[in-house]
Amino acid sequence: MEKSIRKATIAWLLTAFLVFLVMVTLGITMRLAQGAQVSLSPTTFYAIMTMHGLGMAGALFSGGLAVIWYITSHSCKVSLGVSWAAWGLFVVGAVVLLAATLLGGFGPGWYALYPLPFVRPAWPSWATGASIIALILMGVAWLIFQLDILRALAAKWGAKRLLAWEYIAGKTPEEPLPAQVLIAAMCAIAGTLGTLSGAATLILYLLKWLSPSVELDPLLLKNTMFMFGHTIVNVCIYCGLCAIYYVLPRFTGRPWGVNRVTAIAWNATLMFVLFAYFHHLYMDFAQVKALHIIGQLASYGSALPATAVSIFGIGSQVYKSGVKWSFTPLAFALGAIGWAVGGVGAVVDSTIMVNTYFHNTLWVPGHFHTYFLVGYVLMFMGFLHDFFKSSAERFAVGSLVTMLLGGYGFLLMFYLGGMSGLPRRVSSYAAASFGGLAEKGATLATLGAAFAIVFLLGAIGFGFSVVKGRGAAPEAGASPDPAS
Ligand code: HEM
Repeated sequence: MEKSIRKATIAWLLTAFLVFLVMVTLGITMRLAQGAQVSLSPTTFYAIMTMHGLGMAGALFSGGLAVIWYITSHSCKVSLGVSWAAWGLFVVGAVVLLAATLLGGFGPGWYALYPLPFVRPAWPSWATGASIIALILMGVAWLIFQLDILRALAAKWGAKRLLAWEYIAGKTPEEPLPAQVLIAAMCAIAGTLGTLSGAATLILYLLKWLSPSVELDPLLLKNTMFMFGHTIVNVCIYCGLCAIYYVLPRFTGRPWGVNRVTAIAWNATLMFVLFAYFHHLYMDFAQVKALHIIGQLASYGSALPATAVSIFGIGSQVYKSGVKWSFTPLAFALGAIGWAVGGVGAVVDSTIMVNTYFHNTLWVPGHFHTYFLVGYVLMFMGFLHDFFKSSAERFAVGSLVTMLLGGYGFLLMFYLGGMSGLPRRVSSYAAASFGGLAEKGATLATLGAAFAIVFLLGAIGFGFSVVKGRGAAPEAGASPDPAS
């Protein structure tokens, strides 16, 4: 059974990692085009941007779900059939989406703001339909995968215990709840709700595509689409944290259980993360004003508790623990730092007064690329290195240094662009022909591309390190895993 679970997990992890590398290449292509180093028509640029955004979020979220599914399998009976079925649906969806964007030219951006894809599009109608169907296929894959995780967790621990409410009530249960159960449950609940919101949205899009006379409410669809997109990308990062809570104790030799503070923090995060997406709608004057205020408060609420307990938790895990700083703990610690740094940029941007200035500037890709690229991606790689028991430590740590150098350099160019007021989502800065902005944008983009190439080399190096050293690492420390 353990072998079949590993095989299914490997299928997901490899798919996620390979799609990630391809999407980085598309990202570099965009940055080179914005730097006027390569020539892309606007239609091609936006098709690449759409694929890159959806592909990155989709692949990394799938990788994150595979991580919590695998962790769940250590204490619960997960379904292999569901995992393979979900993987198959995801791969078919991804291939169809690649065709619809890169061949068909579907290019309204990841959230395909209604009614954009249906109003005199620059791409054929089949590309719109194929993209909608591809996203529905991936959505179904994530839905059944998450429901299986929840089913398995509830069967083993009891549905009532999953969110650790007994700890909040001040009780000390006889059988302690492992932290990874609380976080995996939180991820699967939030992810399921987000995915359902996406499914409802996409089914309406499909209806519109099949029957163009149908009129839908643009504001409602923007809400439901962001509830989907915002929630799944946040859940993705929480899946990375779940890996840290589960794996790091093996390196430090210290158990990491649930207590009252952790339980409150993760429950608060679950509640707030579902409402934080309102900060994407600050510019929508038709949105009820109270929702903007809730958006600002929920953004703070979803960021602060989980960050505080996790960063404090990682600190107390490693402090004077004598941990050997091999690739996995190093990638976890640096990933958590990247997540927190990007989180600060995001919280700043979610403040209404600041958002008035930064909205749709390069500051936005600056912060979300930070907590993904040098945050979640490092956590994910830390998990991969440990999962494949890689012994190529020096090679992997060298790749990590390369990725940090390339990653932070690439991000800095986004932040500098944002501070200068350069807009996001434009294929060329040439139109910003005042105050030297066009030249500045192109220079920052070219430097960004160069740093991103360094990152890509580091990521490929990491991939080689795992292939080279797989299966040869000695077991790290004693396992204090409370679930096994
Ligand atoms: C070195 C790696 C990466 C490079 C070079 C890169 C590059 C880019 C560029 C140039 C843009 C367009 C920015 C603009 O002008 O608005 C972009 C957008 C985006 N990227 Fe990345 N990116 C990378 C990694 C990631 C990662 C790890 C994620 C994970 C979620 C991601 C998700 C997105 C999303 C969601 C968008 C917005 C797409 C849209 O607006 O429709 N990228 N990226």
